[in-house]
Amino acid sequence: MTAAANDPLLQPFQLKHLVLKNRVMSTSHEPAYSEDGLPKERYRLYHAEKARGGIALTMTAGSAIVSRDSPAAFGNLHVYRDEIVPWLRELADACHEHDCKVMIQITHLGRRTGWNKADWLPVLAPSSVREPAHRAFPKTAEDWDIDRIVADYASAAQRCQAAGLDGIEFESYGHLMDGFWSPLTNLRDDEFGGSLDNRLRFTFRVIDAVRAAVGNDFVVGIRMVADEDVEKGLSKAEGVEIARRLAASGKFDFLNIIRGMIHTDAALTGVIPITGMRSAPHLDFAGDVRAAAKIPVFHAARIADVATARHAIAEGKLDMVGMTRPHIADPHIVAKVTRGEEHRIRPCVGATYCLDRIYEGGEALCIHNAATGREATIPHVVTRTDGPLKKVVVVGAGPAGLEAARVAAERGHSVTALEASGQAGGQIRLAVQNPRRRELIGIVDWRLAELDRLGVEIRYDIWAEASDVEALSPDVVVIATGGLPQNPPLEAGDDLVVSSWDILSGAVKPAENVLLYDDNGGHQAMGAAELIANAGARLELVSPERFFAPEMGGMNHAPYMRAFHEKGVRVTINTRVSAVRRQGNSLVATLSSDFAKGWRDERRIDQVVVEHGTAPLEDLYLALRPASMNLGAVDYEALVNGGEVFPRKQTGGYTLFRIGDAVASRNIHAAIYDGIRYAMRL
Ligand SMILES: Cc1cc2nc3c(=O)[nH]c(=O)nc-3n(C[C@H](O)[C@H](O)[C@H](O)COP(=O)(O)O)c2cc1C
Ligand code: SF4
Repeated sequence: MTAAANDPLLQPFQLKHLVLKNRVMSTSHEPAYSEDGLPKERYRLYHAEKARGGIALTMTAGSAIVSRDSPAAFGNLHVYRDEIVPWLRELADACHEHDCKVMIQITHLGRRTGWNKADWLPVLAPSSVREPAHRAFPKTAEDWDIDRIVADYASAAQRCQAAGLDGIEFESYGHLMDGFWSPLTNLRDDEFGGSLDNRLRFTFRVIDAVRAAVGNDFVVGIRMVADEDVEKGLSKAEGVEIARRLAASGKFDFLNIIRGMIHTDAALTGVIPITGMRSAPHLDFAGDVRAAAKIPVFHAARIADVATARHAIAEGKLDMVGMTRPHIADPHIVAKVTRGEEHRIRPCVGATYCLDRIYEGGEALCIHNAATGREATIPHVVTRTDGPLKKVVVVGAGPAGLEAARVAAERGHSVTALEASGQAGGQIRLAVQNPRRRELIGIVDWRLAELDRLGVEIRYDIWAEASDVEALSPDVVVIATGGLPQNPPLEAGDDLVVSSWDILSGAVKPAENVLLYDDNGGHQAMGAAELIANAGARLELVSPERFFAPEMGGMNHAPYMRAFHEKGVRVTINTRVSAVRRQGNSLVATLSSDFAKGWRDERRIDQVVVEHGTAPLEDLYLALRPASMNLGAVDYEALVNGGEVFPRKQTGGYTLFRIGDAVASRNIHAAIYDGIRYAMRL
């Protein structure tokens, strides 16, 4: 027997009449790929890729909305409309082709949305208790609201069944349904408030209406909070009792267990832990609920690696293990485990760029898998070219260069990489100097392992000049040299400041009394700030923005702010540093404001740290340009829509292009997207 045959993760699971071919699932998550509230091609290809990659069950949508007065908060599907049925059917068919079962999460968002969206209908909740994250002051649901929403759940379930889906789950954490359960959000004194029976009345009315609509054979489960884990919230005792009652009713086929609350960004990181937080923090709890409820239990929360997932199944803690972000990072996890290539799984490093992007950028994107959500144009499995094989020289082994080298080698080209320093990774090596974010090194390590397998040579400690590159007789030269930190515009004192890189790299130690001026808005300054604060310095963070680090989403904001509170960091927004001067043994920073002309303030400190992105290291590119066949030019239209990307400008010469921060200061995803989308065209 093979190892795969004995692997607990790869054993089938019988859920009612369904056979799930293994124990791995993707829990419901809204990637905001919907178009007009419908799961069209992008949505379908995204889920079909996971199906192709061997997953047993994909729970589609995140919170597909059953009622019109639950407007989409983050691209949610409109399961209240009949037009969704054919789109869901196409999606289900595409997954079924690979024997992957498809379900959908349906919900009424309750207070977790805004009133100023879609039809401007009032937001409603069991009681008028505001959700801080979405800020609506909800109206108290009336009896006629409850009646129509119950009916909406039933007709939504019917649509899902008509589309050929294998089942549904209700979302019951942070939304309307569990709003009735929690003493924090249910202040009612009618038949829906008070006793646990009353607080469960809405849930049972919904399940009864849904069962009447779809019958007893259709799979219906619930993703439920079983412990809000806050004082005065739903306790573990009550949560487990709810799980037990729902299970005992015989009306639910599975429970998908959540612990914690999601009403603020900080709370949400407890439910969906990000990088630097504990692995599988609620797994044992989910196991306790499974033991009490005695029906199938699913669960996901940072079970990021196969070993932990296997443990969850082998120890009987779960029936199905959710690896949701891990599949955003690598939709082929199961296929790799089955082939004995577990070591080749692209790791989910917990960066949670994916989730932050649904609010910040309107679509989920993985920090280091640019194919996710772009399946129509970027492949997850790069195939060999059937065109001529080329000699490719990549200069720079940061994320952009490593990705370009990997993809070019997968295409079959012969690749040599030249790196100026003694190690690959570029700015990621700086980011991981913040111990809380050290897992990001997986972005580098995974690529190094792939390059090793592909036989790509990286030559370290080579500051490449044009002659070094030309000596290799390349057909293609990829400039991925990155950038160097630049100062923000200052009227004076350029020579008195140090950069966030100086702090992150350890080249400069934090002084006692530090002012950090972030005129970039991303992780760079925040990472330096966290290091400075943890080193025990007195720190003031100054930002010209309306809130600090606006390039970063709410989930990533949370641990920085926690550290700032704990270390007493002073945060000053809407303010610029316009000059720095020396005064005795100290520095004096002059502060100004975009809002009040002439307003000035001063800070006397020991050290000024600045962050203003990078200036591209482009000398090599400029030196190579004259001898290149395309003079460095790129046809952006062709890059995006197909066709010849590199226009011939003269006879002879190599193809030359630059990627990542060697073009302009951006982020890790942009570097990696550049790397793959250019190298794919070689
Ligand atoms: C982009 C994104 C959107 C999500 N949206 C939902 C949602 O709408 N409903 C839900 O129940 N969970 C949602 N989640 C949470 C996931 O289902 C899952 O619980 C979470 O990612 C933790 O599991 P993981 O560590 O395996 O990723 C979302 C997660 C992500 C990354
Ligand atoms: S962005 Fe980070 S957390 Fe999200 S899937 Fe990618 S690696 Fe995982």
